[in-house]
Amino acid sequence: MSDEHDIDRCVSLLACGGVVAIPTETVYGLAADASDEQAVLKVFAIKQRPLNHPLIVHLGDAGWLGDWTCDIPESARILAQAFWPGPLTLVLNRHPGVLPVVTGGQDSVAVRVPDHALTLRLIRALGRPVVAPSANRFTRLSPTSATDVREELGAAVDFVLDGGPCRLGLESTIIDLRAGTAKLLRPGAIPAERIEDTLHEPLVRGESAARVPGQHPLHYSPSAGVSVIPLEDLYSRAVSLSREGLRVGVLLPPDITCTDLSSEVRIVSIKVPAAIEDYASSLYRFLRSFDQQGCDIILASLPDAHGLGAALRDRLLRAAGPRA
Ligand code: TXA
Ligand code: MG
Repeated sequence: MSDEHDIDRCVSLLACGGVVAIPTETVYGLAADASDEQAVLKVFAIKQRPLNHPLIVHLGDAGWLGDWTCDIPESARILAQAFWPGPLTLVLNRHPGVLPVVTGGQDSVAVRVPDHALTLRLIRALGRPVVAPSANRFTRLSPTSATDVREELGAAVDFVLDGGPCRLGLESTIIDLRAGTAKLLRPGAIPAERIEDTLHEPLVRGESAARVPGQHPLHYSPSAGVSVIPLEDLYSRAVSLSREGLRVGVLLPPDITCTDLSSEVRIVSIKVPAAIEDYASSLYRFLRSFDQQGCDIILASLPDAHGLGAALRDRLLRAAGPRA
């Protein structure tokens, strides 16, 4: 785990245009000073992310909103009050001072206050926000530990601030508040129902007009192919693929009772935790472990869509998206 000395070092690195990996409660981020165009460009280069895909600006406090956004609606204040620091990203009108490179040239900007003690201290000591996309290469799995970041990005980053494993393990929920309504752009670590209860209105569901990588059909992907299949076919599909010679990873739902998968030599199975919060915080770790065990394909069925299940379904379906 990193300490006060490491935070000071990261502040110095960020202040002179460096890029450091930072822990958050969701996933690790790849941070640069949001006011430094060259540093932000380095983030795009390291991630190999197209320049027209906007980044989230991580604020030290909700009080910083006025310097980064305009026309702040009452709903933003209510949500910030209820969920910040925390895994909620708000899309608002961009303040004219925000660098176009941060927003992919759009007139909106995404902002959140992360809920991790080390990173909050870092941002507040820097005195300015950092951009922080997830610290993975474009379309790949988000890292949920400092080790994941080192394996994914290695020497490409100036420093990895180690804040331990991420508490939630799934990215923030993104809500667009610009059109006088609240629109869900990405299901995430705060279930949509909790936001609806707080706003006393239903969220609009649908695609954003922005070109967003979270909506790229292939995203959050391990190296192994992922196949989402009905629960009743999980067992037979795993057995037939392994008998074709493939090494198969299977995410077994907690209530499934097929005990004899372990006797199949080329099948690696992980029983997912019964509590959906535990499943959400472990999903990327499970997918990574299938890669590490050399699986060719990963089979999963979808959890129910309520609560955190919506975000899990979204990530599994995107991991199973079309490959180039
Ligand atoms: O939990 C998280 O949100 C993590 C941690 C590190 O904070 N960050 C993260 O960043 O997931 P990234 O870049 O991997 O995903 C950010 C998502 C993308 O889908 C991006 O397109 C969307 O936010 N986004 C950023 N700015 C936007 C904007 N102005 N309008 C619509 N979507 C935006
Ligand atoms: Mg990402």
